[in-house]
Amino acid sequence: MSLPDRQTPPEARSDCAYCPRLVAYRAEVAAREPNWFNGAVPSFGDPDAGLLIVGLAPGVTGANRTGRPFTGDWAGDLLYATLSKFGFSRGTYAGDPTDGLRLDRAMITNAVRCVPPQNKPVGAEINRCRPFLESRIAALPNLKVVLCLGKISHDSTVRALGLKLKDHPFGHGQEYRLKDRTLLSSYHCSRYNTNTRRLTPAMFEAVFERARQLLEG
Ligand code: URA
Repeated sequence: MSLPDRQTPPEARSDCAYCPRLVAYRAEVAAREPNWFNGAVPSFGDPDAGLLIVGLAPGVTGANRTGRPFTGDWAGDLLYATLSKFGFSRGTYAGDPTDGLRLDRAMITNAVRCVPPQNKPVGAEINRCRPFLESRIAALPNLKVVLCLGKISHDSTVRALGLKLKDHPFGHGQEYRLKDRTLLSSYHCSRYNTNTRRLTPAMFEAVFERARQLLEG
């Protein structure tokens, strides 16, 4: 898929205007909360990353507020704690982009860069944002493991990698060995999934343990 005009791959312009519904929602939130980030949230992490974590989309009071993926909301608490535990970060996560946290050999991005209403991007939005995921992947020279959080992220990443969904269905802990990298997937570390214990911290850690093995192996 080709990139939209006037964009700066691998990141979207923060005022990206390609999804009318998302632009309208951003404007609605910005009218209420003018000091929040309220834009297309860029990826965060190490440009030499071997591990790329692909989330769904910014949470309205999390990444959409702070401007850093998974920063300032429930999902980020588990993700950043797990990254730290497995040696993928340096510093202390404090839910704020000024906390000085650095990712080491890892990068975090989102399948959709702008906050969607009710946390649910529609198919056209996921498709329109995919060129940024494709170019993000292409811009990581040392990428070995792509870890997708949730089915939407998994499906968009499968398409971004030029693979067929029917041959690569989503599953928690499912991995697909590709030519020069591995696609690994997990349930999303959302509040809903962790509260219902569909995803426990131990299950999430097991996926990161596997990611570390793949990177080191
Ligand atoms: N915050 C993000 O940036 N992405 C998600 O998928 C969830 C929260």
